[in-house]
Amino acid sequence: MATTVSPSGLLTISFFHFLLSKPAVSSPLIDQLNHPPPPNFLSTITNNCLHDSSLRYCNSTSSDLTNIFKSTIVAAHLCNLSNSPNCPTSFSFIDLRTRPKLAPLYLSFSFFWKYCPFSIKSIDLSNNSLAGPFPSQILNCTQIHSLDLSHNMLSGFLPVDSFTLLTNLSNLNLSYNQFSHEFDVEAISFFKRFNDSSFIHSGLLKSDRDYKFKMMTTILLLVGVSVLIASAIGCLVRRIGGRHKFSVRELTKATDGFSKERLVEKREKMEVYIGILKDGEEVEIEIQRGKVSSEFRRSFVKDCRVLVKVRHKNIVKVLGWCDEMEMRAVVMEREEGVSIEEWLMRSPPWKDRMKVAMEVVEAMSFLEEEWPQIRCDVKTTNVMVSEGGEPLILKLKVHDHPNSSSSSRDIYKFGVFLLQLIANNHIREEFEGSESRFVDWIAMHQHEKLRTVIDEKMKLSATAHEQVRQAIEIGLICTDLSTEKMLTVSQISSMLRVVYMPSMIQSVNGHQYHHRTRNKKKETT
Ligand SMILES: *[C@@H]1O[C@H](CO)[C@@H](O)[C@H](O)[C@H]1NC(C)=O
Ligand SMILES: *[C@@H]1O[C@H](CO)[C@@H](O)[C@H](O)[C@H]1NC(C)=O
Ligand SMILES: *[C@@H]1O[C@H](CO)[C@@H](O)[C@H](O)[C@H]1NC(C)=O
Ligand SMILES: *[C@@H]1O[C@H](CO)[C@@H](O)[C@H](O)[C@H]1NC(C)=O
Ligand SMILES: *[C@@H]1O[C@H](CO)[C@@H](O)[C@H](O)[C@H]1NC(C)=O
Ligand SMILES: *[C@@H]1O[C@H](CO)[C@@H](O)[C@H](O)[C@H]1NC(C)=O
Ligand SMILES: *[C@@H]1O[C@H](CO)[C@@H](O)[C@H](O)[C@H]1NC(C)=O
Repeated sequence: MATTVSPSGLLTISFFHFLLSKPAVSSPLIDQLNHPPPPNFLSTITNNCLHDSSLRYCNSTSSDLTNIFKSTIVAAHLCNLSNSPNCPTSFSFIDLRTRPKLAPLYLSFSFFWKYCPFSIKSIDLSNNSLAGPFPSQILNCTQIHSLDLSHNMLSGFLPVDSFTLLTNLSNLNLSYNQFSHEFDVEAISFFKRFNDSSFIHSGLLKSDRDYKFKMMTTILLLVGVSVLIASAIGCLVRRIGGRHKFSVRELTKATDGFSKERLVEKREKMEVYIGILKDGEEVEIEIQRGKVSSEFRRSFVKDCRVLVKVRHKNIVKVLGWCDEMEMRAVVMEREEGVSIEEWLMRSPPWKDRMKVAMEVVEAMSFLEEEWPQIRCDVKTTNVMVSEGGEPLILKLKVHDHPNSSSSSRDIYKFGVFLLQLIANNHIREEFEGSESRFVDWIAMHQHEKLRTVIDEKMKLSATAHEQVRQAIEIGLICTDLSTEKMLTVSQISSMLRVVYMPSMIQSVNGHQYHHRTRNKKKETT
């Protein structure tokens, strides 16, 4: 067999001819992998390395011969499978898009990735339902220019340190995954070369954290502001004896000494753990470490004392807090579910969406009446739907001095939320990050082009269609910042009830559905 240098960094051209022409056609890949290397294999690669010492396998010991051999077999198959030209001598890209059976198989060949051919410049593993942690082995191909892992179900943290070795990477797509948010991807200098379109719905952007609803809560302890934003998942068990204060010792026990296995989210100043209390109850624990002013601590405890009293079936339950030494923590109950954002991707029927809107607005109305100092941050990423279809509001804020502007802000947010419950998925995504442009777009299309607004996957009866139309109007009323007259949440709630139960129309016809100011605006533009 001739031993010429292959530019792919694999083996000789003639060697591959041998592989592909004989067993490759008749026997499957796995069969070939079980063959031992041919007797002259060592001299073949030695010779290759004499000509080009940059080949990835050159500096490995001869004891790894079998793996090197196997890696060349996998490379040959993978090259062919990818329709890469001139296989495998100039194996330039791996294309395993939409190959959900093959992609995991090839990922499992760690010996291949270890000797990743230098010729490979592009790897596409998108749309494969790949689950589990980031497949770090592919980062052994440090020379790649392009990597696409979009539309999978990858979770856990991104291996940032390994990424930084990919100095030539100019095209990255991690969109549509469920990574955990350890940092703001925008804040890492390596990732600055990529724009947001590399991380859409990946769990890695600040604006996009739907991943967390599988598991988690967030209470942000904002330093210096007497505001506590709470978000959490849970309800189930009642606290015994109304005891809400936890000690560091209890929390240490509940989290196996704050073990890495129990850590589900980590940000600059905050960690979230899943813990198990003495009574066996599973909880989420948000922790902030470090010294803060005594004023901040007082205000933190004061806010917690309020939040533990709030009990509503559609509002997350805060079980207690810890304020000891240099640690502040909030303990919340935990429940399974998905974010509204994720839920909408499944195109739920109209009646389920309406139920969510009704229950959310009723929970807001409950807060307005019973706990005026508490505001909720209603967004498709801050509300989850439990497996039973019940919405749960995950973010709350305690204000020292609630005022009408915070109330109108809540109503605006609910309006956006309501419109998002109705809108086509692609419209929601298009205007992601710009609520006002989203609202303007809906307002502009609500009359003549209503069909383009409404999620086409909802099969609407004539009655339902009318309900949707009216719900859009209510959404637009809530988001109309130009009206003088301020609505209350309870008014919005009863307007929606009218839509939902048309028989009630007579009794509440005091409310006007027409969106005069916005129509005026439209006429002038
Ligand atoms: C292998 O080792 C030689 C000498 O130590 C070095 O010059 C070369 O860059 C190494 N090759 C690889 C691929 O690491
Ligand atoms: C892949 O292999 C098959 C036969 O095994 C061959 O017909 C085909 O041309 C090869 N494709 C490429 C891109 O080399
Ligand atoms: C993703 O895969 C599904 C089937 O698994 C297929 O229907 C769809 O067209 C693929 N999408 C893309 C963009 O390739
Ligand atoms: C690449 O492969 C080596 C083994 O050769 C391994 O030790 C290393 O962790 C791998 N790197 C990455 C980024 O996976
Ligand atoms: C990036 O490309 C340059 C120029 O082609 C090359 O010298 C360098 O080795 C590449 N970096 C990696 C990590 O492969
Ligand atoms: C983001 O980057 C991609 C390619 O990396 C480019 O096609 C796209 O236009 C960029 N988008 C924006 C908004 O800059
Ligand atoms: C990443 O993939 C998503 C979904 O396919 C796409 O919308 C986005 O533009 C892609 N981003 C880049 C940088 O290619």
